[in-house]
Amino acid sequence: MTDKKVTLTLQDNASVELDVMQGTLGQDVVDVRTLGNHGLFTFDPGFTSTASCESKITFIDGDEGILLHRGFPISELATHSNYLEVCYILLNGEAPTQAQFEEFRTTVTRHTMIHEQITRLFHGFRRDSHPMAVMCGVTGALAAFYHDSLDVNIERHREIAAFRLLSKMPTMAAMCYKYSIGQPFVYPRNDLSYAGNFLHMMFATPCEEYKVNPVLERAMDRILILHADHEQNASTSTVRTAGSSGANPFACIAAGIASLWGPAHGGANEATLRMLEEISTVEHIPEFVRRAKDKNDSFRLMGFGHRVYKNYDPRATVMRETCHEVLNELGMKDDLLEVAMELEHIALNDPYFIERKLYPNVDFYSGIILKAMGIPSSMFTVIFAMARTVGWIAHWKEMHDEGMKIARPRQLYTGYTERPFTSALKK
Ligand code: ACO
Repeated sequence: MTDKKVTLTLQDNASVELDVMQGTLGQDVVDVRTLGNHGLFTFDPGFTSTASCESKITFIDGDEGILLHRGFPISELATHSNYLEVCYILLNGEAPTQAQFEEFRTTVTRHTMIHEQITRLFHGFRRDSHPMAVMCGVTGALAAFYHDSLDVNIERHREIAAFRLLSKMPTMAAMCYKYSIGQPFVYPRNDLSYAGNFLHMMFATPCEEYKVNPVLERAMDRILILHADHEQNASTSTVRTAGSSGANPFACIAAGIASLWGPAHGGANEATLRMLEEISTVEHIPEFVRRAKDKNDSFRLMGFGHRVYKNYDPRATVMRETCHEVLNELGMKDDLLEVAMELEHIALNDPYFIERKLYPNVDFYSGIILKAMGIPSSMFTVIFAMARTVGWIAHWKEMHDEGMKIARPRQLYTGYTERPFTSALKK
């Protein structure tokens, strides 16, 4: 809290004094909690001006293009850390010592197998199901298998659930893929890194040894780091809202996965790749840019724009670099990358995009990298969900650790006023 106050003058000239809260970084926040006592609510659909909670996990300055996890800049984490270390930082608030990291890694790797019965659950789905549909279902179903970590009021239960989710997500994600192509599931290997093990479970078969390419392993690790958390985005807010009722962690993360699926959120990398394929050659770009600017056309340039970043998304810069590394390693000259780079160039120099501060976001390049690795586009959002699970858990745990109120927004009612009911049905 600061000494600052905001005074709101009401119609009858009465006034309400509201406290102003100050974080360690970022905008001050007007505390409107007492407004209801004066017969008023605030109106903010889409939460464009509302802080829904206090958090110590991630800070974003969208105008400056800054993203910090527990104070550490994302570019430094992406360059000098690895995904599991970032997970430790997000969950625990500090960078681990070597011993703490080893213990954390061992716990994660020792919980990567899923209950064998869950494999039967997979077999209940159609082979052509969207893998996000399967992920939602299977993640929610974990609550039916791990009864010993469902009491959200017990800290140890919360911790066990956190490890289970973090450890089992890559196994379930890879199983979604294997199931869709009719191949046998591949069990996790504890001698591999988190990213390496995921690639192994995706691409190994019983008939051939799969050697994890270190450049692709590093690229996958970076993709996971860059998607690990992003403060109160739609899916994280969904997890917090679901969790605020005391729902079990597996149900909450399943809710987060459902929210992430939307094309305006996690579905954007799949949509970006589809768009680049549709554009197909550099010559077609002007037509798509024209459509994106046309108010009568619902088409948007996927991978452009962000609710918070009104500057270059710092994650997109790292992703762009990784994209070139992967294509070089695989000796691929990708036509889509050429289209992407030209599109980026044209859009960044177009007054429409400049005025609206629409820059490429993290999803603009990630699709090209994943495609080059041989991952089908339907799996892109699944990989995003796998990476974001740690962020969702960190926020869910923070909410429980610090005490919470059930999320219950109010509304501006614009429906009928009271009227008599007369049934038109035959009695
Ligand atoms: N292409 C063309 N125009 C756009 C785009 C775009 N991708 N994004 C925003 N605009 C325009 C809007 O038409 C609007 O123009 P107007 O002021 O003339 O009406 C203006 O920019 C502001 O757009 P809003 O929709 O109000 O911005 P908002 O912050 O609500 O939306 C969002 C952000 C949803 C990400 C939007 O930019 C978008 O749809 N982008 C494409 C989808 C995408 O890439 N999503 C991934 C986000 S990153 C993530 O989830 C990891």
